[in-house]
Amino acid sequence: MARVYQRGSTDVAALSGVDLDIRDGEKLAIMGPSGSGKTTLLSILGCLDRPTRGEHLFEGRAVAELDDDTLSQLRNRAIGFVFQSFHLLPHLSVVENVETPLQYGQRPPREWRPRALEALERVGLEQRAEHRPSELSGGEAQRTAIARALVVEPRLLLADEPTGNLDSATGTEIAVLLDELHAQGSTVVLVTHNEDLARRAERVVTLRDGHIEKEERP
Ligand SMILES: Nc1ncnc2c1ncn2[C@@H]1O[C@H](COP(=O)(O)OP(=O)(O)OP(=O)(O)O)[C@@H](O)[C@H]1O
Ligand SMILES: [Mg+2]
Repeated sequence: MARVYQRGSTDVAALSGVDLDIRDGEKLAIMGPSGSGKTTLLSILGCLDRPTRGEHLFEGRAVAELDDDTLSQLRNRAIGFVFQSFHLLPHLSVVENVETPLQYGQRPPREWRPRALEALERVGLEQRAEHRPSELSGGEAQRTAIARALVVEPRLLLADEPTGNLDSATGTEIAVLLDELHAQGSTVVLVTHNEDLARRAERVVTLRDGHIEKEERP
């Protein structure tokens, strides 16, 4: 599969000839230099973007053939995203942030709070539920973001440099948490520049100039 961006009158091939099969329950790390296509690949895996050539299958279905409603339901139900810079809403409390994906899903409102508190418990943050994001450490903010990704119980957790803004001790805590979630059955795909973090995955795919340069099993 390929993803070509139009920049003015020129084409930029962010991905080309990428052939990747991710197993249910796998933990995969994506590495590669800046501009090699990691975020582009993650966006396609998360059904936020589509290949311009080739096909993306999710749970065996061709994503390009899904209508908008089915696609947004699929994203909401099956995929959780975690970013380097947390992306928490500053005016909401921690537990309200964690609830937000449920507001776009099918679950009744009376379930939102208990589910959000349960997700906070899974990341060890139940005692911070009423805090504002500005009152959290970086590690706590990222745990909140992970709880928000988990609250819909997605099959697939995607993380784009989740430890990029954290010191190494806090980054290790987040890495341990991702390992736990993987052990509990989540499929985890993470982009990282950190060799130690990548080595904790079952498979490491290295991108260069939009193609897969190598695949390793640490
Ligand atoms: N929306 C866009 N429009 C045009 N070009 C884009 C767009 N998004 C990404 N690109 C280009 O596609 C290529 C891959 O970008 P991508 O963001 O996937 O890289 P990356 O590996 O995530 O880099 P980084 O490590 O810096 O986050 C780069 O050349 C980038 O400039
Ligand atoms: Mg990126």
